Amino acid sequence: MTTFLRVDLPYPRRYSRRAWYRPAASVTGLQAKVDLTSSLSPLASCLGIFMIHGIKGVKDILPEESRRWQAIEAAARRTATLFGFQEIRVPIFEVTELFARSIGATTDIVEKEMYTFQDRDGSSLTLRPEATAGVVRAYIEHSLSGQPTSQKLFYVGPMFRHERPQAGRLRQFHQFGVESFSSTSPYADVEVMSLLWRFLTGLGLTGLTLELNSLGEASDRPGYRRVLVEYLKAKEGLLCGNCRRRMESNPLRVLDCKVPECRTATADAPKLTDHLSPFAQDHFRQVTEGLTDLGIPFSLNPRLVRGLDYYTLTTFEVTTGNLGAQNAVGAGGRYDGLVKTLGGSDTPAVGFAVGLERVALLLPEQALQAQNPLVFIAAFGSTSTKIGARILDGLRAAGVRAESDLRGASLKSQLRHADRLGASTVVILGEDEVAQGAAVLRNMTTKEQQTVPLDRVVEALSK
Ligand code: HAM
Repeated sequence: MTTFLRVDLPYPRRYSRRAWYRPAASVTGLQAKVDLTSSLSPLASCLGIFMIHGIKGVKDILPEESRRWQAIEAAARRTATLFGFQEIRVPIFEVTELFARSIGATTDIVEKEMYTFQDRDGSSLTLRPEATAGVVRAYIEHSLSGQPTSQKLFYVGPMFRHERPQAGRLRQFHQFGVESFSSTSPYADVEVMSLLWRFLTGLGLTGLTLELNSLGEASDRPGYRRVLVEYLKAKEGLLCGNCRRRMESNPLRVLDCKVPECRTATADAPKLTDHLSPFAQDHFRQVTEGLTDLGIPFSLNPRLVRGLDYYTLTTFEVTTGNLGAQNAVGAGGRYDGLVKTLGGSDTPAVGFAVGLERVALLLPEQALQAQNPLVFIAAFGSTSTKIGARILDGLRAAGVRAESDLRGASLKSQLRHADRLGASTVVILGEDEVAQGAAVLRNMTTKEQQTVPLDRVVEALSK
């Protein structure tokens, strides 16, 4: 017996109410959508409520855009490898405490942006909002400090932050990042910044600024913090609620606040760079000299404190004027205390991450490599289709990009399809041609045609 389920939806009066009764078994998931759409096409507008939409701020990367992404990811891997970095793949979720302890409990990311959920055993897990914490955890857990080939690591993958979505700001976004362990040398800082700069400029991005600052050693902070809090207290009435709250818990973040009133109020705030130890001053000087030697332009920004608490000494951000409010393309810095904080030995480190959605928005069309020409096999009739399948396979084995129509359409429709796909040549396998042991090769640009023996088609097209 078929069970019927009544589905009450808002519907235009002119359509019959009977149309809304469907077998219950089919009113689940995709099947329900297909059944209802096919039988109730005049009501398609009402059916919108059956559609499952993607989540706000979480984007599909459609075939149209994926070439752009492939170009960016290939450049990321190529550049990182050129600089001696090896790929690491860490999980997209970790125990929540990892992020709270590394990024900082009073940062925006940890306070309001993490996707945290309870696992079945009651433990708290979080989708990674960034990858540095996970890479450091893996570095400690797998004793990578003892492996000379594992000191320079890179990654490409999705990150998750519950931010207000807008152009260039998503809730699932992708980063290419690098982490360089074990060296305190300013040249390690220069190396990762130069990698970042070469990656972005190599893709043809223009109008970029590398902003640079030093946050000093951890021991420089308490003295500066005292001076800064005193200064901020005098300005308290002029600051936004967030900054007033942060004034005691994380006063450096007040300098990074984007609210115009806060920026004006703190325009003459004491600078951390005036409170650096001789070691930090010397480190910073060597970093700036190293960048100058390599011809990498930078500008000093004493307010650049970054939104993550693990940084020490060098911090940097590459910004652009071409992205509106979300102007940071990539950012990073040194984090000499993090490995120890997470239970490892005292290991210095420096790294960065680039937001790939932002790179994709800025990528000039010329950066996309032209694809290899496409050959399309248009066969009709069962013998021709069988021969077509063999030629198709032969072309692909010879490294030629080849495609065919598997729907048994007419020649006219197959030629139209080949044209839409941008095929440069169509191999026409009609029954008459095949009976004569030949195929017609049609040049889709000049429309010229030539007849070629079947056993020479692959050879003729792979030249
Ligand atoms: P971050 O500044 O939080 O640093 O993120 C780096 C980059 O990721 C940003 O400059 C931006 O391009 C991109 N990004 C961040 N949030 C979003 C978002 N919601 N939508 C789109 N893109 C976004 C870090 O993540 C550190 N782990 C970098 C690092 C590595 N420091 C040392 N090593």
